[in-house]
Amino acid sequence: MSQLKNDTLIRALLRQPTPYTPVWIMRQAGRYLPEYNKTRALAGSFMDLCRNPTLATEVTLQPLARFPLDAAILFSDILTVPDAMGLGLEFVEGEGPRFQRPLRDEQAIRRLVVPDPSAELRYVLDAVAQIRKALAGSVPLIGFAGSPFTLACYMIEGRGGTEFLETKRMLYERPDLMHHLLDVNARAVTLYLDAQIEAGAQAVMLFDTWGGALSGEAFHEFSLRYMQKIFSGLRREQSGERIPRIVFTKGGGQWLESLAQTGADAVGLDWTVDIAKARARVGDRVALQGNLDPAVLFAQPETIRREVNKVLAGYGHGVGHIFNLGHGISQFTPPENLAALVEAVHGSSQQFH
Ligand code: CP3
Repeated sequence: MSQLKNDTLIRALLRQPTPYTPVWIMRQAGRYLPEYNKTRALAGSFMDLCRNPTLATEVTLQPLARFPLDAAILFSDILTVPDAMGLGLEFVEGEGPRFQRPLRDEQAIRRLVVPDPSAELRYVLDAVAQIRKALAGSVPLIGFAGSPFTLACYMIEGRGGTEFLETKRMLYERPDLMHHLLDVNARAVTLYLDAQIEAGAQAVMLFDTWGGALSGEAFHEFSLRYMQKIFSGLRREQSGERIPRIVFTKGGGQWLESLAQTGADAVGLDWTVDIAKARARVGDRVALQGNLDPAVLFAQPETIRREVNKVLAGYGHGVGHIFNLGHGISQFTPPENLAALVEAVHGSSQQFH
């Protein structure tokens, strides 16, 4: 039996009945909140914030203090794993992530070692434990990691904002080497998510932000297959509770049937997907998470309510919907608009349950 006061997220992920549609927001702890910017300034930098379990706990809880969200998500980043492999992660102000030592030759890839989460990623596990304690059973805590392919994109390119030309060149020219890298990443992520679950994560999510940049054939061979491998290696339960898994491939709308077969309990949808059609395709097998366009949060509250209702009505009656945006919330979002969204989801969704 769940000890959670609000277990709507877990129930919806497992396609069990809930009185309303649970809602959480990708990047709910972040720069659109002035209190986040304050804590980050206090920490020094984004990575200092991630490495400080007390401050990471504080920012994880900030959106929950403002909005009646139905889940917390660990405050960290997907790139902590390659950082733990020795690539040297830094965030250049206004430019996003950079690796000091990106993977530039075969030897660098062959030398990679799967990190021991309880050593190199101890700070994340400490944050998970501390957040769980602070939540005191109010809502579940979601843990997460990047997909092996999405991590590989950053590890090879060394930064975001490229067209993945180096990554794709390796994929086409040296598939053996790419498979080796993806295998290391998959083993690293499996251990890492398993350690997060052991430390207290009550659901886990794989972020495959760049899988959608691949051809269908390459997506199945180089991204999907490794996510499947992770889910098949991951513990299913902790302390007698099932740990639901969410998979999110941005731009993966064409491959929902495949994503529904990865071993995930829920598939995240970006806003380019019609949620009614997505449900018709895979809704008997998995829950669906999404999928409001984050740009809707720049509109007036009435518009936000209208667009929220369209997503809720699109999904329709019954179990298995978790409301979210189709991607992370923009740093320029007025926080009060998120309040309108959460209120609209909770108020309008009861008629569908
Ligand atoms: O959702 C949450 O609130 C949990 C925390 C979280 C962060 N990053 C915090 C963060 C999660 C789940 C992530 C995942 C992540 N990180 C992804 C996958 C999801 C996606 O957005 O597609 C990716 C690709 C990354 C890598 C990353 N981290 C990038 C590209 C950037 C810079 C982009 C940007 O928004 O500036 C980050 C930085 C980052 N990660 C921030 C936050 C709150 C902003 C850093 C800051 O405070 O300056």
